[in-house]
Amino acid sequence: MRIETIGSATLYHADCLDVDLDLSRVGLVTDPPYGINYASRPSKWQRRASMEPRTWDEKIAEGVEGMAERALASIIWGGNHYSLPPTCSWLAWIKPDAPPSNGQFEMAWTSLDHLTRYFMFHIGSMNPHRCGHPNQKPLSLMAWSLTFLPEVDAIVDPFMGSGTTGIAAVHAGLPFIGIEREADYFDQACERIALAANDEQRIAASGRML
Ligand SMILES: C[S@@+](CC[C@H](N)C(=O)[O-])C[C@H]1O[C@@H](n2cnc3c(N)ncnc32)[C@H](O)[C@@H]1O
Repeated sequence: MRIETIGSATLYHADCLDVDLDLSRVGLVTDPPYGINYASRPSKWQRRASMEPRTWDEKIAEGVEGMAERALASIIWGGNHYSLPPTCSWLAWIKPDAPPSNGQFEMAWTSLDHLTRYFMFHIGSMNPHRCGHPNQKPLSLMAWSLTFLPEVDAIVDPFMGSGTTGIAAVHAGLPFIGIEREADYFDQACERIALAANDEQRIAASGRML
């Protein structure tokens, strides 16, 4: 297991089912692969970029459901694919430019107590920010997600991918713990979170000079 510390972020290159974290004071904000036997199907542009589909671990569903229960507060994107308790507090990402072959929105299950809320964001707006992960979420979506959490000690994303939740946590000034199993995605996350942490440091330093 490789562990990288970047500012207040701790990143594990590991299978999250092998990492035993105390979740009792954390916000679990994650975007796991969609359930048992899910295989990510790359879109046309992803195939052009030679991205291969990957098959996910079948034990993931159980892991996600257990973590969601143990965390102080949980936001699970794609939570509608898991067996999670009933909730009234769904979040949705509306994609006004979704092509007919794609869903027009994605849903996040939450353990929170609030009204349903939606976030509208064009998929095309992500293009300049794409880092190569086939399931990269918009940074603004993950930043918006964090605003629903109560006070927590840290944000945890056990399916970190390219680290988008981690960047949102760094921008929000919250400690972050991320776990990613695939080496190439883990490296992407380290790089992106380090850039975000440097930016935050520069902003803090320029504030001190004023
Ligand atoms: C939907 S993607 C997350 C994308 C992320 N939100 C982003 O913006 O880049 C899910 C990620 O979980 C990772 N993953 C799947 N099973 C895992 C496991 N058991 N432990 C850790 N990571 C895992 C996959 O490699 C993939 O990168």
